[in-house]
Amino acid sequence: MPEPPTSSLLAVWREVASRRRDWGTPLPLQYLFRLRRPAILGTLRRTRPLSDVWGFDRGTPVDRFYIERFLWERREDIHGRVLELMDSGYTDLYGTDVTRADVLDIDDSNPKATIVDDLTTGERIPADTYDCFILTQTLNIVYDVRGALRTAHRALRPGGVLLVTVPAVSRIWRPGHDYWRFTDTSIRLLVEEAFGDRVQVRAYGNVLTGIAFLAGMAHQELTRRELATNDPRFPVTIAVRAVKQ
Ligand SMILES: C[S@@+](CC[C@H](N)C(=O)[O-])C[C@H]1O[C@@H](n2cnc3c(N)ncnc32)[C@H](O)[C@@H]1O
Repeated sequence: MPEPPTSSLLAVWREVASRRRDWGTPLPLQYLFRLRRPAILGTLRRTRPLSDVWGFDRGTPVDRFYIERFLWERREDIHGRVLELMDSGYTDLYGTDVTRADVLDIDDSNPKATIVDDLTTGERIPADTYDCFILTQTLNIVYDVRGALRTAHRALRPGGVLLVTVPAVSRIWRPGHDYWRFTDTSIRLLVEEAFGDRVQVRAYGNVLTGIAFLAGMAHQELTRRELATNDPRFPVTIAVRAVKQ
């Protein structure tokens, strides 16, 4: 059984001796490429994150930069009767002319919940009621995503807007209670199944912000330009706006 490569000289020697070629790149070239673009990990060379709470203890987590940017860009949608998960934080921050802010949670110990129900069935959530449903960072912890999106569609009044964000990259929320990570394609198809074609999808992030977020860095540790660069191959947060027809 060959040993997995380590950084020891012996391992380098073994690799050279085995004359292995990866992806067709000759070994000497691989060494050259590593020399040309060295990966200097510094304080990131550790197997635990810098923060155990997404970076909240260091500032604002990187994904919150994208979630808040999206909601700010869509703030005109947040008005009238608004439904949000867990608390009304984003409704309060970005809403205008909000006539009623409802908070949904499956957790009946949440004192902020005005509706205690399971989003996947939503029997206690009124139909054709909401002008806006802010559904951030929750679909990943709901196994039946299709059921949740059907409920979201039912809860909105015609013309009402669903604002969703989902993680493409994120640490596990709570082990055993976190099911999915999404691509822009998968979340688009899932939302379109419930809402038809009035769906806009936007992917935020790049390889640097993905690494920073996983490591538990705060967005304040990155530059605006680094945060604002969106590379479709390396999304961190995916945002969707869907309108009920
Ligand atoms: C991780 S929080 C995210 C929501 C928050 N607005 C945010 O942006 O961080 C998820 C919330 O959804 C609730 N939740 C999880 N599964 C649910 C379900 N099936 N139906 C309703 N609420 C659910 C959790 O109890 C929790 O309060």
